This record gives sequence, structure tokens and C-alpha cells, in this order.
Amino acid sequence: MDTSITISQLIDQLDVLETEAVSVIEEAADTDVLNQIRVEFLGKKGRLSKILGGMASLSGQDRPLVGKRANEVKKTLQDLLETRVEKFKSEALTALLTRETVDVSAPSSGIPSGHRHPLIRTTENIVDLFAGLGYRVAEGPELETDENNFTALNIPEDHPARDMQDTFYLEGSMLLRTHTSPVQIRYLKENRPPVRIVAPGRVYRRDAVDATHSPVFHQVEVLAIDEGLDFGHLRGTVSTFLKAFFGDLPVRFRASYFPFTEPSAEVDVQWRGRWLEVMGCGLVDPAVLEGLGLDPSRWGGFAAGLGVERFCMVRHEIDDIRRLYTSDLRFLDQF
Ligand code: DAH
Repeated sequence: MDTSITISQLIDQLDVLETEAVSVIEEAADTDVLNQIRVEFLGKKGRLSKILGGMASLSGQDRPLVGKRANEVKKTLQDLLETRVEKFKSEALTALLTRETVDVSAPSSGIPSGHRHPLIRTTENIVDLFAGLGYRVAEGPELETDENNFTALNIPEDHPARDMQDTFYLEGSMLLRTHTSPVQIRYLKENRPPVRIVAPGRVYRRDAVDATHSPVFHQVEVLAIDEGLDFGHLRGTVSTFLKAFFGDLPVRFRASYFPFTEPSAEVDVQWRGRWLEVMGCGLVDPAVLEGLGLDPSRWGGFAAGLGVERFCMVRHEIDDIRRLYTSDLRFLDQF
């Protein structure tokens, strides 16, 4: 009996292989299964190779016919496998994109965000309002000389402000500035008038802590020097500023005394039925100008020193200054 295989048997086997492979490829659930199918049918020791092994007994004429059909089958299966792999890949990508979609309307997970301290914000507000009136920002050091903090501001040796009770003295003639007024001196030493500046900063005094006192607090100094400035300019500037900051709170100017201004005034705003002092001000004393080599018959102007804590407390209805320094976030987060 002739056991050799005929060309039509081989072609049949190829047809069967193709039909079978197409159906398992179409049913395959994922790329792993597709890879197994590829190995099983098209691998080196796979079923297509085995069928082709039978070609050895064919005549030289028939071989190319089987070879051609085998190549067709191979190509069909390869194409189909590839199409299916691509399909799985794109499905996986779509699924991933769907899973990872960002819902911009979803409620946040509540990550806490920081914000500036109310004292800093108040300082910035004050400075911004004066900047709007054409003032530049100037700054000076917290470590000052006795000369700039006192003498140049016409504060004589025996003035109570120099008292050891009030000032933190350091070695030599240095001290922690007790007010921002020395920035007036520093600025006028470097810059000739006309000048308009605001100088925010920290100041220090040997005060015991209570509801309205702190050994460290904040001021904003204001200085305008020009020709022909008078008390009306001071009053107009201060009133404009206060209205912009507080709205319609009642304001009063009260005659006062400062060594570096003449005349001088303190400004109060009405808050919770009481008058609360928020700044000192006045026309710059001619003695201060002369000390800086400026001719007081030509140059003059006004100055003011604002207590930032007071502005902050009135604006936010805070009745104890200590709250501003305790860094209690339950309190600070309200602002
Ligand atoms: N330096 C004063 C203080 O700390 C405040 C002050 C008053 C500043 C009048 C001024 C001024 O510029 O003109 O008490």
C-alpha cells in the first residue's frame, strides 16, 4: 500500500488547518492566548511545519503548488493574528483612558492650602493703597544705630523713649529699632527730595505682653517731602487712605506731640464705641530736615507712623493682639 501522501490530501490538510486556526483565533480572549495559537500553528514545530514535512514525497511539480497554498495560509493566519492583537491593544488603551479620566467637577480631596498671615496681608493692603497715591516702598534694618533711631529724629538724650524700659539695647550703640521712623533718616540720606515713601517693618519694645501690647509689632512709616506741603496735605492724604482702608468708620485727629514732627497729631478711629489710636503723624520738624542738610525754608512735608496690628484688629474684629502671634491655625484659617 502506498503510504505516501498526495497533493490533494496536503491541500485538504492545509484547508482544515486554516479553518480551525481562524476559528480559534476569533475566539481567543486575549493576547496570551493568541501567542499560544501562533506557536501551535505557525511555530517551528507547529502544525503548519508538520504538514509541510509531508511535501518530501511529492513530485517536483507538485511541491510549488502546496508551497504556494501553505504561504497563503500562513499569511492569512499572520494577518488575522496581528489584527486581533491590535484590537486587544486598543481595547486595553481605551479601558485605561476611561479609568483614568479626570472628573474636574469631583469634590476635592481637601488638601489644605496655606495663605498669608493676616498681619502680612494688612501690611500689603496699606502699602498698596499708598502705592496707588504714588508712594514708593523703602525699607530699613531692624538692627539700628542709636543715631538713626533717636538722635537724627530729634529725640534728645533725656527723652523717655530712650528709657531702658522701652528699648532693647545691644552692644555698642546698636539697638532693635523701636519704630520705623529711622527709615525716614536712611532714605533722606540717600535720596534728595521730592520723596514719597512708605516703609513697612517690624519694630521692638520692651513691653509686657497683654491684649494690646507685644514686644514685637509692625508699623508702616509714611514720608512725603516736597516744596509747599502743609497740614492740609497731611490731613487729606491720611483721610483718603483711612476711607479706602476702613470705609466709613468715624475718624478724628487729636493734637499730640512727637519730637520729629511739629505740629503733631494722633489719629483715632471709632471702633466698638471707643476711639482707638491707629497712627501718629505730623509735619516733619525743621530740626530733622536741617540735620539732614535740607533747607527747611524750601523743603517740608509730613510723616506718619501706622500701627499695623491695630489696622488688622479693627478690620477683622480681633480683640486680643496675642491671637496674631500664637500661630493657631484654627484661628488664622478664618482670614
Ligand atoms: N514713630 C512713632 C511711634 O512709633 C509714630 C510716628 C508718629 C511716626 C508721628 C511718624 C510721625 O512718622 O510723624 O510711636
